[in-house]
Amino acid sequence: MEHTMLPAIGSVFPRGVFAALLLMLLFSFSTFTSIEAYDPLDPTGNITIKWDVISWTPDGYVAVVTMYNFQQYRHIQAPGWSLGWTWAKKEVIWNMMGAQTTEQGDCSKFKAGIPHCCKKDPTVVDLLPGTPYNQQIANCCKGGVLNSWGQDPSNAVSSFQISVGSAGTTNKTVKMPKNFTLKAPGPGYTCGPAKVVKPTVFITNDKRRTTQAMMTWNITCTYSQFLAQKAPSCCVSLSSFYNDTVVNCPTCTCGCRNKTEPGSCVDPNSPHLASVVSASGKTANTPLVQCTSHMCPIRVHWHVKLNYKEYWRVKITITNFNYRMNYSQWNLVVQHPNLDNITQLFSFNYKSLNPYEGLSKFYLS
Ligand SMILES: *[C@@H]1O[C@H](CO)[C@@H](O)[C@H](O)[C@H]1NC(C)=O
Ligand SMILES: *[C@@H]1O[C@H](CO)[C@@H](O)[C@H](O)[C@H]1NC(C)=O
Ligand SMILES: *[C@@H]1O[C@H](CO)[C@@H](O)[C@H](O)[C@H]1NC(C)=O
Ligand SMILES: *[C@@H]1O[C@H](CO)[C@@H](O)[C@H](O)[C@H]1NC(C)=O
Ligand SMILES: *[C@@H]1O[C@H](CO)[C@@H](O)[C@H](O)[C@H]1NC(C)=O
Ligand SMILES: *[C@@H]1O[C@H](CO)[C@@H](O)[C@H](O)[C@H]1NC(C)=O
Ligand SMILES: *[C@@H]1O[C@H](CO)[C@@H](O)[C@H](O)[C@H]1NC(C)=O
Ligand SMILES: *[C@@H]1O[C@H](CO)[C@@H](O)[C@H](O)[C@H]1NC(C)=O
Repeated sequence: MEHTMLPAIGSVFPRGVFAALLLMLLFSFSTFTSIEAYDPLDPTGNITIKWDVISWTPDGYVAVVTMYNFQQYRHIQAPGWSLGWTWAKKEVIWNMMGAQTTEQGDCSKFKAGIPHCCKKDPTVVDLLPGTPYNQQIANCCKGGVLNSWGQDPSNAVSSFQISVGSAGTTNKTVKMPKNFTLKAPGPGYTCGPAKVVKPTVFITNDKRRTTQAMMTWNITCTYSQFLAQKAPSCCVSLSSFYNDTVVNCPTCTCGCRNKTEPGSCVDPNSPHLASVVSASGKTANTPLVQCTSHMCPIRVHWHVKLNYKEYWRVKITITNFNYRMNYSQWNLVVQHPNLDNITQLFSFNYKSLNPYEGLSKFYLS
């Protein structure tokens, strides 16, 4: 439940002003309340979906759809992504590899050979790890988990293959799907229109030949904290070695405790804790939090341990108050004017993010 770490950071840090200098802390989801899908800590962050038409078929085409998570630190965790779109014509999906649609829809007009999906607006989800090899393709089958480019580029790509029927069969008659939606798994992403781009060039494994997609479309999706949820999902408390006072997370940071509504949070001292948690079901996206004054699912505690002329040292403790989540592959983004030169970090990895000069921040994972 708790992780601790002790970063020691170079350069001078004037005593007593750490609260003012600590500009921003983020845990997994940032706390911005901007309407635009723009994150100043990751200005070019996006998820790009590439739709490569690999071959034409008698009534349509076969495509490989690849999602690249080009974000610095925002990953998609279990239960994973789902991708939806609206077909431009009367397309159907004959079959898929590496993913599946959640619903087949009405395929009753097909007599011989039943399509995988006949819906006008299919929703596709990744297959689970352990899928039989004959249903896999490269970069599939991770249960929809997609790491970020900054944290683990080798796991920041997800692909599936799709055979589309009742579609155009040339690059003049084929139509791009519309209205892409990416859920991760809740709201937050907004996808732009599909755009025709230069066809992807593939290099064979032995690197002796290249092949080319018949046609390629790109779709770019960006994240907005405001769309994801209006309330913050974490808060910061502060303390230091020279003062016994702990500055707690502000009351009601993530919501207010409603004493007249018993189910709104969980009392950790309740003798029926386990049954309360399991009876509440797994309504995945809404957190079930421990009763606290701040009601946040995550608290980040920043404790200044040392403060010398040459360096200062803090211990960061992250506490999970959400009974519905076991976080894995989490990361913490910290923005602070002194973080350019971390000289030592214990227990965790870090990487600096430098979207623009003058502000420095890092993340730990
Ligand atoms: C998406 O991210 C990549 C990598 O950071 C960047 O090169 C590209 O320009 C971005 N695309 C858009 C439309 O922002
Ligand atoms: C379609 O294919 C023709 C050649 O087969 C090519 O000249 C043209 O640029 C292609 N159009 C698109 C939109 O890819
Ligand atoms: C696209 O989605 C929006 C919102 O969900 C909807 O209003 C619109 O009708 C959709 N467009 C198409 C072509 O399905
Ligand atoms: C389309 O997406 C691919 C994969 O992310 C990228 O390499 C390519 O540069 C993109 N093309 C354009 C024109 O954005
Ligand atoms: C400790 O911090 C509290 C709250 O900021 C302040 O009121 C108090 O004066 C401080 N005590 C000392 C000894 O600095
Ligand atoms: C607390 O919960 C009760 C019962 O659900 C509701 O009537 C009341 O408006 C809630 N109060 C606040 C402050 O949310
Ligand atoms: C989190 O992990 C613990 C211990 O492995 C397990 O008992 C619990 O059911 C898990 N909770 C969720 C929501 O997955
Ligand atoms: C970073 O810290 C190291 C060791 O404390 C020091 O030698 C170096 O000059 C510092 N770099 C900057 C840019 O402050």
